[in-house]
Amino acid sequence: MEKSFFIETWGCQMNDLDSQRLAGQLKLRGYSRAGSAEQADLILLNTCSIREKAENKVYSRLGELRLTRRDGARIGLAGCVAQQEGESILKRAPWVDFVMGPANVGALDEILDGGRRLAVDFPVDRRYDYLSVDRPSAVRAQVTIIEGCNKNCTFCIVPTTRGREISRPMADILAEIRWEIEQGRREIELLGQTVNAYRCPVENKDFADLLETVAALPGILRVRFMTSHPAEMNDRLIAVIRDNPAICRFLHLPVQSGSSRVLRRMKRLYTREHYLGLIDRIRGEVPGMNFSTDLIVGFPGETEDDFEQTLSLMEEIRFGSLFAFRYSPRPGTPSLRLGAPVEDAVAAERLSRLFALQERIQKEWLQTYVGRTIPILVEGPSSKDTAVLSGKSECNWTVNFTSPHTPRPGTLLNVRIDEARHHSLRGEAVA
Ligand code: SAH
Ligand code: F3S
Repeated sequence: MEKSFFIETWGCQMNDLDSQRLAGQLKLRGYSRAGSAEQADLILLNTCSIREKAENKVYSRLGELRLTRRDGARIGLAGCVAQQEGESILKRAPWVDFVMGPANVGALDEILDGGRRLAVDFPVDRRYDYLSVDRPSAVRAQVTIIEGCNKNCTFCIVPTTRGREISRPMADILAEIRWEIEQGRREIELLGQTVNAYRCPVENKDFADLLETVAALPGILRVRFMTSHPAEMNDRLIAVIRDNPAICRFLHLPVQSGSSRVLRRMKRLYTREHYLGLIDRIRGEVPGMNFSTDLIVGFPGETEDDFEQTLSLMEEIRFGSLFAFRYSPRPGTPSLRLGAPVEDAVAAERLSRLFALQERIQKEWLQTYVGRTIPILVEGPSSKDTAVLSGKSECNWTVNFTSPHTPRPGTLLNVRIDEARHHSLRGEAVA
């Protein structure tokens, strides 16, 4: 009888893609997708440990699944909590069948065959079967180019859970992208924790070389990449972005804090001045460039003055969008030794001031689109209203629009923007 699976995914884009890879391998084994965890013969929990009490959340979800799963269903734990907790999960939750870390996503077959209950090593050779990735979009594809991270930001658990950097050979990456183009996908997003630290292990090629080659592939309409580390940006990379219009004029460049003192304690490898200078240089070279960022509030020792420097940096740069988080102490990270986190009430108050400022900036920024005509990559009918079409702008905003004809998904279409909503734009296709 045919078996079914259900994957629950928490966390970042890397995890989303890992789940697509896991699903692909399961389909090759003859599994089909179940509608819910309760109906599945195999349940995979792909977890995230970047913030909060992720471990507790995992144990409580595992407890629920133990009771609600169907008879005989297997449960596997994947992702960063699996890596971090390892064997102790099998002890505390003996009904879990296997525990696998992010570096073992390509080894699911072997694990399912009963070879390993615990797969939390960092193999040098990693299987990456790109032909089987189960991609949810017919228009876009995400492609991992580098796994792990060699930076050691003092607050971050990623280097522990995803290991040291390993870049994929450029030839493999290009083969995967060509295949996705053949399948009709038109937007490629290159992924990695520090995507711009990419170095091909076979040829003498870096991220700028790879990006330049990808942007020139026939059939590609858009190239994105994330996450870039500010200390890994360089003039050649900026020039490649400038000279290749297929590369989106939109860069996610996490700054984390506007205070050089805090940045030093975070070991971010740049100062406020360096970051501002970098943004200026990029804007000078690439007109129309927009930025998004990540910020942490309440890092140990962050003073009111440090925080105000974060606000003033936001005013100065005017990020189109940002992700802000309250500092969360993570097991084994160096920041635990930097003193107590900022008091709860103070951190919460700072975070809400930050969001209020961003709300204003973002609103003004979205408003600048009204009346302009911009290219949209068409995805298809909007999920809320099928009379309306939906697509993405270069800055990844959802744009809902009407059109006299029905454009094919995966085409670039000029849309005149009539209205800025809270988190999206509305417009009308122009001939
Ligand atoms: N590789 C990326 C981001 C990795 S994690 C980079 O270079 O920045 C995604 C975001 O989560 C980080 O940018 C950071 O803002 C946030 N983050 C990571 N660890 C955190 C922690 N301990 N507490 C709060 N936020 C954290
Ligand atoms: Fe984490 Fe810093 Fe790497 S935020 S993923 S250690 S660049």
